[in-house]
Amino acid sequence: MKIAIGCDHGGINLKPFLLKYLQENGYEAEDFGCFNGESVDYNDYAVKVCQAVKDKQCDLGILICGTGIGMSIVANKIKGIRCAHCSDVFSAKMTREHNDANVLAFGERVIGPGLMIEIVNAFLTTPFSNGERHVRRVEKIKALEEKNFK
Ligand code: RB5
Repeated sequence: MKIAIGCDHGGINLKPFLLKYLQENGYEAEDFGCFNGESVDYNDYAVKVCQAVKDKQCDLGILICGTGIGMSIVANKIKGIRCAHCSDVFSAKMTREHNDANVLAFGERVIGPGLMIEIVNAFLTTPFSNGERHVRRVEKIKALEEKNFK
């Protein structure tokens, strides 16, 4: 499985722990930056990661910023992306099972490396349930994306 990852300066210290976890657990990782602590706009990195997921260049995406919020707001503007902002393991598992989320976002200023690994592990190892009601609801999300709200 290939995972697209990205962060801004607010997530730069957590990213090495994420890369190590992915490498040690047999995932391929594509790192879309940023690559140092210089102040950048989270928007640009969220777009790079989500584009790779949308284009099926990567299977799932993971975004880190200070809170995870800015990244998740941007990600959810992109057609085909269902980004879940998670600071706990239960939500990370349930968003795969029920929402078929394809991008995960969290904040380095909110969670530490130990909890992050548990959250990432739950997200990457839980399949979509494919339950009839969950499929219907995800299809409704996709239908909403087709509407041109003004
Ligand atoms: C950067 O200071 C911070 O605003 C950003 O990482 C993120 O938390 C935004 O949602």
